[in-house]
Amino acid sequence: MVQSKENFNVLVIHGPNLNMLGKREPELYGKTTLDEINASLEKLGKRLGLAVEAFQSNHEGAIVDRIQEAAVTQKGLIINPAAYTHTSVAIRDALLLLHIPVIEIHISNIYKRESFRHKSVISDVVTAQIAGFGVRSYSMALEALAKMIQKR
Ligand code: DQA
Repeated sequence: MVQSKENFNVLVIHGPNLNMLGKREPELYGKTTLDEINASLEKLGKRLGLAVEAFQSNHEGAIVDRIQEAAVTQKGLIINPAAYTHTSVAIRDALLLLHIPVIEIHISNIYKRESFRHKSVISDVVTAQIAGFGVRSYSMALEALAKMIQKR
């Protein structure tokens, strides 16, 4: 069965302050902007048979709303909850509503940083986590997600 020709919907959620990528701590997060990341994910998605939509918010509730919508509209989710990774029980609870593969990603290696970043409150409810590959963490997640979706 050739499923790669189909367009599966995939959502990429970016949490707080990721709209500042490019300007924000470039030594840690690189110089690529969020628009550039989203454009390259969209392009890669086309090659993989995925329709990629991206959403960024600095607000926890807005992210929760988007996760709830994803339960009915999406075949896979990539999420970088940014600072909410370490604090948000609300985002964790929303992720528990999903029955699709979910990949948590981080640009930096959170385990090599301050101790408060070592704990992700979502890592045990997602399918997989990718961290520390710079902005490549996103494309690696999309490639992995494509395989997971096609296997289902
Ligand atoms: C981050 C790591 C978080 O600790 C931080 O708050 C971020 C970005 C990352 O992608 O490396 O905003 O999620």
